[in-house]
Amino acid sequence: MDTSKAFVFDAYGTLFDVFSVIEKCEELFPSNGEAISQTWRKKQLEYSYLRQMMGKYRPFSEVTRDALRYAVAEAGQELTHQNEQALLDAYKELHVYEEVAEVLKELKAHNATIAIFSNGSHDMLDPLVEQSPLSEYIDHIISADDVKQYKPTPASYTHVIDSLGIKRDDVLFMSSNGWDISGAANFGFHTAWINRKEQPVEELSLPPTSIYHDLTGLKKWM
Ligand code: LAC
Repeated sequence: MDTSKAFVFDAYGTLFDVFSVIEKCEELFPSNGEAISQTWRKKQLEYSYLRQMMGKYRPFSEVTRDALRYAVAEAGQELTHQNEQALLDAYKELHVYEEVAEVLKELKAHNATIAIFSNGSHDMLDPLVEQSPLSEYIDHIISADDVKQYKPTPASYTHVIDSLGIKRDDVLFMSSNGWDISGAANFGFHTAWINRKEQPVEELSLPPTSIYHDLTGLKKWM
């Protein structure tokens, strides 16, 4: 086990299943839950890229709210303030993928430093981690909102090494999002793409160091 490496994880889609809000979406918008949930995630990411490019940064909690509003409107549905709050609250209780707690527990048993690095703002991330079975294993929660720079900008990943006081070569970064893995590879991190959906590698000439279907692949690093 190369304990000098810090194991840094993306949050949404990697540790937490963003589509576990589908049930709540379906409950509030019967037969529109799947479509709303998919558009919600798509727009959430799109708005983070667009705001970064336009220099119009707003915290991910606001971007997530705005993406929800778009997704519900696109489905031709009405979003009451109460339902908006209920869905945003559900985003703080996302399901943890099945294998995650066991893998983090084993990493911790090997004295690994474990961090989350996410575009999520602390008002989203901190309660999400706190209510999950992962909180005892997470040493650091690092948010892009600390520096107002969204992934995949180099400035955002710089915040990780500044926060942990380590070199980029000392980081193994995990994400299920191919664009995030490309950004981390571009910055100089070692990367493990958690390809949960068996997608092709992004055509960005920035391939991952390793590819695993889920976090159990990390056992080879122990
Ligand atoms: C995260 C989202 C973008 O940074 O996956 O957690």
